[in-house]
Amino acid sequence: NIPKKIELIEVGPRDGLQNEPKPISTENKKELIRKLAKTGISRMETAAFVSPKWVPQMADADEISAYCNELGITYIALTPNLKAVERAILARVPQIAVFVGASTTFNKRNINKTTNESLKDCEDIFKKAKENGQFVRAYISMAFNCPFQGEVSFAEVNNVCQRFVELGADEIDIGDTNGHANPKMVYERISRLRDLYPDMVFVGHFHDTWNMALANTLAAMHAGVDKFDSSIGGLGGCPYSPGATGNLATEDLLLMLSQMDVETNVSYKELMDVAAFAKSLSSKLNSEADYNLSLH
Ligand code: HMG
Ligand code: MG
Repeated sequence: NIPKKIELIEVGPRDGLQNEPKPISTENKKELIRKLAKTGISRMETAAFVSPKWVPQMADADEISAYCNELGITYIALTPNLKAVERAILARVPQIAVFVGASTTFNKRNINKTTNESLKDCEDIFKKAKENGQFVRAYISMAFNCPFQGEVSFAEVNNVCQRFVELGADEIDIGDTNGHANPKMVYERISRLRDLYPDMVFVGHFHDTWNMALANTLAAMHAGVDKFDSSIGGLGGCPYSPGATGNLATEDLLLMLSQMDVETNVSYKELMDVAAFAKSLSSKLNSEADYNLSLH
């Protein structure tokens, strides 16, 4: 019993490109976004209002957002703190995303705060965004496993999830940031969250480090999830999650869904052309050096 229709949310321009070792020009990013918009994808994560010192690839968030407004697409931008939301409001971003690690060690490395400090900051971030009519996506990162602490408990995940629900998140995105989840874990954990929060919209966000992202997606579909993030060409990885590779490739996800007669409104043929373009931008995918299938 799986959903008949799935929303594909493309995160390649953000999660995909943020970790590229060589700078990618703003013009190339715009071209990627323009091509993706033509495939039928309804929503994309295109920018991050983070510190350019921490993530230089996202330094052009203002220009990219202005371009997305010009194209008239629905897009999401990452906003880790209040300064970021203020920047996103000025840039007229329709949907923001906060990201809090269920594991405090990761959270500290990623945004320099403990999990509970981040949750406290979320109060002002949500308030500001909602006052300005923005849709709020809330990521629980390291929702299964963490490269620094190992398995993450359900209680740690629920601590973040419960707070996001209380603060009024429009959707909660379950992140397997380092790609070490497995389908059994995904099914059990997401089913439990859906039982606890039946009115909440959950999204699945799987990295493909162990080549299990597609299986994890199917497990989440069996748990009732009908929205998934994926990255064109399988680009990406979080700069603060050592060893993690790209997200589930959008074209692989679309192929599976179309073979299963699940509706997406996205054209496979057009998407394959964009995948080739996306891979041509990536020096990582061109070198293979970053594929990490080790068990650490
Ligand atoms: P910090 O150094 O702790 O911040 O960084 P601070 O408040 O002490 O400020 C230090 C400097 O940064 C100041 O500038 C601030 O103005 C500036 P200075 O006075 O030194 O010139 N600053 C900013 N500049 C631009 N935009 C901002 C901003 N905030 C402060 N918003 C901060 C804290 C959050 C900024 C930093 O840790 C950061 O940018 N981290 C980036 C983390 C990141 O982008 N990680 C990757 C995305 S998360 C991910 O990929 C996971 C996900 O895909 C889900 C999953 O897979 O699970 C979403
Ligand atoms: Mg990610």
